[in-house]
Amino acid sequence: MMQPQASSWQLPPAMADSAASVDSAYNFIFWFSVVFTVVITGLILFFVQKYKRRKGVKSEPTGHFNKLEIFWTVTPSIFIIFLFHVGFSSWIHNATAAEGATEIRVHGKKWAWEFEYPGGSRTSDLHLEVNKPYKMIISSQDVLHSFFIPEFRLKRDAVPGQYSFIAFTPTVVGPAHVFCAEYCGTSHSGMLANVIVETPEQHKEFVATLGKKPKLCGTPAVECTVEKWGESLFVEKGCPTCHGMGGSGTIGGGKSPGPKLAGIFGQPQPISGGAPVMADENYIRESILKPNAKIVAGYNNVQMPTFAGSFTDDQLDAVISYVKSLK
Ligand code: CUA
Repeated sequence: MMQPQASSWQLPPAMADSAASVDSAYNFIFWFSVVFTVVITGLILFFVQKYKRRKGVKSEPTGHFNKLEIFWTVTPSIFIIFLFHVGFSSWIHNATAAEGATEIRVHGKKWAWEFEYPGGSRTSDLHLEVNKPYKMIISSQDVLHSFFIPEFRLKRDAVPGQYSFIAFTPTVVGPAHVFCAEYCGTSHSGMLANVIVETPEQHKEFVATLGKKPKLCGTPAVECTVEKWGESLFVEKGCPTCHGMGGSGTIGGGKSPGPKLAGIFGQPQPISGGAPVMADENYIRESILKPNAKIVAGYNNVQMPTFAGSFTDDQLDAVISYVKSLK
């Protein structure tokens, strides 16, 4: 197990796989700036002194040096492209979830964070197991927030009406912190949460305590998982009428009026009159709320009614989890 790196005068300790590439990009840009600031300022001062106006000396226009002009245009451009490469590759690294990553939903609201684990239990502190890959599915119930863990060097906006994602693997056991990094009103500065990176044994104990708090859902309320709740909403709102039971895409042995939902998650969907779209959380959400924004190829003559206003955000999350679970 990695030990936390001592926090430098500039940065908090690095506690996730995402930190190394961010720190190297930061350090490179920092020292790059220091070196060039010193060299350029030094040269300016030197030339100011050397060529300052002197009594009795007439100033003459100097010539034009094409080679020099090209040199100081091309060289900084190369540096800028390199800096872009350094930043962009670390961004890609944090945007892609590892195979088998545990998904945790992050709910931002004025003014608190809530973390929802597989199975639907929620806590106000984020418990993670060391050296396990995670994917956060971030959403907001009200205004823009920003999910920020300085020790992981990660920050992603929580945007009302859509999901954003961030992936990482915590590498060090210990405490870290969640801040809100987007001004969101009176108690923005108090929108904090603890991150607790645990050993596998500690995390097992934590998960066991979650098991003692079963989630209640549906009417009448019964103990259930998020997927089960999603399924009951799916049936309640009449979705099987067009998509078939379990989103099978068949009704009574024939093709259902609406497209098949089982097995589409994570796969590209053919779209009528457009490029295929990846069926992720945002796609399914949009298909429920604005069904005609992207019509599945072959279903042009089917008008699906909008379900905007029919679901709360939590219910929408549950239905999406259900569709996701359909194989
Ligand atoms: Cu939420 Cu600032």
